[in-house]
Parts: sequence; C-alpha cells; structure tokens
Amino acid sequence: MIKRIFWTITATAAVGVVGFGVYAYKPAMDPVAAQDRPAFGPEVVEQGRILAAAGYCSECHTTADGAPYAGNYAMETGFGTIYASNLTPAMDTGIGAYSVEAFRRAMKEGVDIDGRHLFPAFPYDHFAKMSDEDVDAIYAYIMTEVVPVEQETRENELPFPLNQRFLQAGWKLLFVDFDEYAFDDTQSEDWNRGAYLAEGVAHCGACHTPRNPVGAEIASDQYGGAQIDGWTAPALTADNASAVPWSTADFKSYLTDGVSTYHGISAGPMGPVVHAGIRELPDEDINALSVYLGERTGGNEDDPATSTAIVSTLERGRPDPQYRRDAGERLYATACASCHYNTAQIEAGRPDLGINSATNLDTPENLIHVILDGVSGPEGIEGVVMPGFRDALSTTEITAIAAYLRDARAGQPAWPDLSETVSRMAESAAHAE
Ligand code: HEC
Ligand code: HEC
Ligand code: HEC
Repeated sequence: MIKRIFWTITATAAVGVVGFGVYAYKPAMDPVAAQDRPAFGPEVVEQGRILAAAGYCSECHTTADGAPYAGNYAMETGFGTIYASNLTPAMDTGIGAYSVEAFRRAMKEGVDIDGRHLFPAFPYDHFAKMSDEDVDAIYAYIMTEVVPVEQETRENELPFPLNQRFLQAGWKLLFVDFDEYAFDDTQSEDWNRGAYLAEGVAHCGACHTPRNPVGAEIASDQYGGAQIDGWTAPALTADNASAVPWSTADFKSYLTDGVSTYHGISAGPMGPVVHAGIRELPDEDINALSVYLGERTGGNEDDPATSTAIVSTLERGRPDPQYRRDAGERLYATACASCHYNTAQIEAGRPDLGINSATNLDTPENLIHVILDGVSGPEGIEGVVMPGFRDALSTTEITAIAAYLRDARAGQPAWPDLSETVSRMAESAAHAE
C-alpha cells in the first residue's frame, strides 16, 4: 500500500516536471536584419520616446559613464548582481536583431529572443500590463533614435541554482499575472488611465509595493511602502504617514515639479522617476495618475492651510529663545533654520520639516540621506539644491538634529536605533545618482 502511494506520488511529480518543462520551454525567435525592420512614422517614434521615459528604461539600461541604453548597469538584488542588457539596436550584442514580435515577448512575457527566461529585476511583470500598441511604439523609438553600441552584457553574478534561467518559469507561474490591464468599469476614465500607467509602464509598485522573500511584489499590499536602495518608498495608500493627507493636487505638483508643499520633494531614487520620467508625460496623463493616487490615499481635497497639522507645525517652528538648551535644537537653529525657517505660511522651496514626509515616516533613512548628502539639482525642485552635511556634522550631531526634528517638530515617537543607523549610513559611500 505504502509502495503504491509512493509510486502515485512519484508518477504525479514526473508528470509535473514534464508539464513544467513544456511550460518553461520557449522557442528562439528568428532574428531580423536592420534593413528588414519596418519604417516608423514620427508620431509613433515620439510616443515611444515618451513611454520609454515614463518606463525609465535608460535609468536601468545605462551606466553612469556609459553610452545611453548600452547596458551593464548593475542591479544588486539581494540574491546576487544582475546586469541590465544592452538595449541599443546593435546587431550582435544589443537588441538589433529583435523583431517587433520578439520585443513584445520580452516586454510582456520576460523571454529573450533566444527563448531564455529573463529575471524580474527587469520589471516585465509590469510591462505585461501595457497594450501592444504602446510596446510597439517603444520598439519604434529604440530602433530609430537610440544609437547602436556594440558592448557585451556582463554575466550575471548569481549563485547556483538561482542562475538557472528556466527556474524563472516557476516564479512566473506563481507570481506573475500576464494579462494586459483590464478597464475597471466602476472607476472613471482618468482613474483607469492613471492605473494603466502606474501599474504598467511606470511600474510604481516596483519600488512602493513590499516584496515576499523570493522577491515578488505582494499583490494584496499594493503600494504598501517598501525599502529600495537604502531609502523608504512611502506607502501610497491610506497608510501613508504624512501629517497632511495627500490630495490629487499635491500628487500633480509632486509628479510635475518634484515637490509638494505639504510633503516635501522627490529625493533619492524618486528623483529620476519624476525628472527623467513622469514629467515627460502629457499633462492629462499626470492628471490621470494623480486622480488614481488621490483615490488610493483617501481622496483628501480639503484646504490643508487650516489643518491642525499645519497650524501646529507653524507654532512649533517659531524659534524658541531657549533653543540653546537642547543640542539637537541648537544645531538645527544654526545649521538648518537659516533655510528651513517658517514664515506665516509654508513654502515649497524649503520644505517645513515638521510635516515633511522624511520626518514622519516610521524609518529615519530618508531624512539621514538628505542631511548627509543634501539634495542635488536633478532631485526635488529643478535647479534648487541643499548642501550635504557629511563632512560638516559628526554622527552624534546628525543624530541629535534628527531626534529633535522627530520629537519636537513632527511630534512622533522616537526612532529606535537612530544613532546606529546614522553611523552605518555615514560610513557607507555617498548615494549614487
Ligand atoms: C529596474 C530596472 C529596469 C528597468 C526600469 C527596465 N529594464 Fe529592461 N532589463 C533590466 C534587466 C536587469 C535586464 C536583464 C534581465 C536578465 O538578465 O534576465 C533587462 C532586460 C531587458 C530586455 C531583454 C533584452 C535581452 O536581449 O536581454 C529588454 C527588451 C528590455 N529590458 C527592455 C526594457 C524597456 C523597453 C524598458 C523601459 C520601458 C526597460 N527595459 C526598463 C532592467 C530594467
Ligand atoms: C526606483 C524606485 C521608485 C519608483 C519606480 C517610484 N518611486 Fe516613488 N518614491 C521612491 C522613494 C525612494 C521615495 C522617497 C523619496 C524622498 O524621500 O524624497 C518615493 C516617494 C514618492 C512619493 C512621496 C510620498 C511621501 O509620502 O512623501 C510619491 C507621491 C511617489 N513616490 C509616487 C510615485 C509614483 C506615482 C510612481 C510611479 C509613477 C513612483 N513613485 C515610482 C521610489 C520610487
Ligand atoms: C542652504 C539652505 C539649506 C540648508 C542650510 C538646509 N536645507 Fe534642507 N533643504 C533646502 C532646500 C532648498 C530643500 C529643497 C530642495 C529641492 O527642492 O530640491 C531642502 C530639503 C530638505 C528636506 C526635504 C527632503 C524630502 O525628501 O522632502 C529635508 C528633510 C531637509 N532639507 C532637512 C534639512 C536639515 C535637517 C538641515 C540641517 C542639517 C537642512 N535641511 C539644511 C535648503 C537647505
């Protein structure tokens, strides 16, 4: 009897493996010669340029000193390093031989021209939501405008068995929904357009949705907030920690100019999302994204100027004649308040630090990053900068300022392990842009 059960199990497993093999197998697709590619109209190429920007393709497919789209940008995944492919239309080492069908399959199924499964460090799980028309436009843009550069893509540094590409098929089976975006009848046109962009090409969830232990986004906690490259990408849901709830207008301003008066600016990994990406979209698309996000965070449309959070932050922001008593307050008054002082109203150019997202989040990293390295031109508001204090302040001083802002200005409970976090971050190199 036992033996029979054993054989049944083994037989089922064998069928499973064969079934999986059939599922995992993807044929190679025929290469095309450059002169056999179709010609594309200028409107399609322009649409592709905008979509490629909104998908930040060049952010991942270009190294700091490399040619645009030539690949080899290293992504540290927690499992090992994955190098982004050469995405120029170079025939041997780029994607020059990709037909539009092969490109669609890569974007929407995560399989390369040779039939190999791609790793989800490439966010094909989001690009699968895009329409064929939009994917084809990106193809038209790359093949027409991107300069071909022959450069071999480096081998990924992944341990066995994670480096076995066919195993990605199992990951896909478990975690990826390959259906295109489905219009939701219960929501407006704008909301649906926003959802299509956010879930598809702009892949906001790739940073803002927490992931499970094998690196897949947790669908039931969409936009629940996550860690990315040592920063916190805040929750874009009703759980957002901001002192003043986000409104549609706040999102509009943040996604257009990199600043929301009542929340702060797009620093760190969010900088290029706004400046190299989203703001290339036409105004109505940014509106649509804002409508979608506004609804998710709770649809606050009150005038925030009279909210208790703002009234009290303005109160607390007034210089205290006794400020020299507390080290954090003293340092804040001398190092920060020359710029971050409060007038009768809150101004966007130098965010109020009592209601700023960085001081209200559960984690101190975003605040510490900004104190250490400041805010450079391509982040936040275009052309507005804040100097970094990496060399000017000690870790004890930075800890004191952060603790003061958290307690006296944001009115939030102290961050645990603050001084350890400051020391750890001060020791690691300045954040790379
Ligand atoms: C978050 C980083 C990231 C972004 C954003 C990104 N990619 Fe990639 N992409 C990768 C990585 C990493 C690989 C290599 C994956 C692998 O080796 O399995 C890749 C591979 C690809 C491939 C497969 C090419 C080949 O032959 O290996 C294509 C096509 C591609 N990306 C297109 C795009 C396009 C188009 C965009 C923008 C709409 C984009 N990618 C945005 C990281 C990214
Ligand atoms: C590459 C990772 C990444 C991607 C992709 C990304 N974000 Fe972010 N986002 C961040 C990080 C990190 C922060 C925190 C920035 C800071 O503190 O200045 C942030 C901050 C934000 C904030 C401010 C939240 C707050 O409470 O202060 C909003 C709004 C936002 N992102 C919206 C979006 C939208 C919409 C998209 C897609 C169009 C998106 N993000 C895509 C990483 C990302
Ligand atoms: C020379 C003026 C100046 C000084 C001094 C200064 N800041 Fe700033 N700070 C700015 C400006 C301007 C911005 C907005 C930058 C932008 O929009 O690109 C900013 C932004 C910020 C942000 C917002 C980050 C976000 O993600 O929203 C924080 C937090 C911050 N500063 C903290 C501090 C602290 C703490 C100090 C003192 C240690 C300080 N600043 C000193 C000018 C200054």
